[in-house]
Amino acid sequence: MKNYINILCIGAGYVGAPTMSVIAQKCKECKVTVVDINKKRIEQWNSDTLPIYEPGLNEIVTSVRGKNLFFSTEIEKGIKESDIIFVAVNTPTKEFGFGAGMATDLQYWEKAARQILEHSESSKIVIEKSTLPVKTAESMERILQKSNNGIRFDILSNPEFLAEGTAVNDLLNPDRVLIGSKETKDGLKARKKLVDIYSNWVDKDKIITSNIWSSELSKLVANGFLAQRVSSINSISALCEVTNADIKEVAKAIGMDSRIGSKFLNASIGFGGSCFKKDILNLVYICKSYGLDEVAQYWENVVNINIYQQERFVLKMIKSMFNTLASRKICILGSAFKANTDDTRESPALFIARKLVEEKVELVISDPRALNNTKLSLKDLNESISYIEDPYEASIGSHAIIICTEWDKYSKLDYNKIYKQMVKPAFLFDGRNIVDRKKLFEIGFNVFSIGKSDLTHY
Ligand code: UDX
Ligand code: ADP
Repeated sequence: MKNYINILCIGAGYVGAPTMSVIAQKCKECKVTVVDINKKRIEQWNSDTLPIYEPGLNEIVTSVRGKNLFFSTEIEKGIKESDIIFVAVNTPTKEFGFGAGMATDLQYWEKAARQILEHSESSKIVIEKSTLPVKTAESMERILQKSNNGIRFDILSNPEFLAEGTAVNDLLNPDRVLIGSKETKDGLKARKKLVDIYSNWVDKDKIITSNIWSSELSKLVANGFLAQRVSSINSISALCEVTNADIKEVAKAIGMDSRIGSKFLNASIGFGGSCFKKDILNLVYICKSYGLDEVAQYWENVVNINIYQQERFVLKMIKSMFNTLASRKICILGSAFKANTDDTRESPALFIARKLVEEKVELVISDPRALNNTKLSLKDLNESISYIEDPYEASIGSHAIIICTEWDKYSKLDYNKIYKQMVKPAFLFDGRNIVDRKKLFEIGFNVFSIGKSDLTHY
């Protein structure tokens, strides 16, 4: 007799796999299967070396894998056996046709929806996990309603708010879980089933429900607001650099106002990651398509400031290194889009690397976790770049070091040792404000930080 809920997740990426691992761990009455078209990825999820780096995930996966968590490429079988299907496929920005560079490319998502329709033999709850444009559920419903064999699909939106690097904690202790559904009898019934699953470990008052459009839109807006904070503080960092104000002091002063709050006020070389840019451009596209041009422009500027911040950083490097970087050896420390992940999607380090290669720099990139993804992302430039994991070895003979990712270890390096093996004058550009800049200046470095005045010996 069947006494468990069969959950399927389509897409074994940064969102699908960690989320399902936690559901499997916390919900023993669920049998969770994660499927993917990428055979290698599934093999890695079934091995000792997981395909993504996420602190704490290894322990959770090994505790439930083979018990009530399974990774498989058998998508058809998975669909047939499931009661609930999470769709967590990639939804990148469209690179062709109408809306190129802004709209979401829904081809993977649509393929998943069509697979569900083709292989389902019983009614199911289908849950949007990937970030999708508002009203996607409507299209999903349209595809799935083509079934005329009595099978019904109830669509829910359950956006994922986990951040990479802290995914496990975000999943175990979420600020909130959001579940959107149609407000019909069947919609509410489906919503309750998902509420019950999360109730296994999340307080009831943190599980919020809404109509499906509010849920879809909230995900885009949450990322928009977070990115807006980073762009806001980064825009002020430019002002600090020319006025002798210090961005950390400004951030502290404003962040202590409880109405503003202290989080997400770290000035940086810019935000990266798979969500912020994509989601904001999507928001912009949606606003434009409803004729809300001023609203679109407002949000688009969050992305524009992010581009400005990265370009400004490279221009400052060129200017401060006497207007030429050609043939100089430069070492990038950190290529992940933030610390504690191996993900390089939209990483500012990649933007900077491309600009430096255009300037004919002899480039070395170092990162403790992200070098494989970096090589893939920059594969067209691999002849111009060397990859060395050890930061000491990577910086030998370089004219400048650029810190692009705030890995803890980069704030604790032996900079005396590094300085000795660099070409003089030695430059250090701290794109994350993590080093003790006064100490480094005393060692002999010319130090450039974000939102602080330059410390130069010339
Ligand atoms: C984000 C959202 O936080 C998460 O809720 C959503 O589900 C997915 O998108 P993520 O992309 O993993 O998560 O990373 P996040 O921690 O939000 O950082 C995004 C970027 O902003 C990183 O490049 C980070 O370095 C940068 N950032 C963040 C800053 O530059 N300064 C800050 O103060 C905070
Ligand atoms: P995210 O960060 O949103 O999780 P990823 O790119 O890491 O995005 O993961 C999405 C996964 O979805 C990829 O591993 C991709 O191979 C998988 N995928 C895309 N389309 C399908 C599909 N139709 N069936 C199964 N898996 C799919």
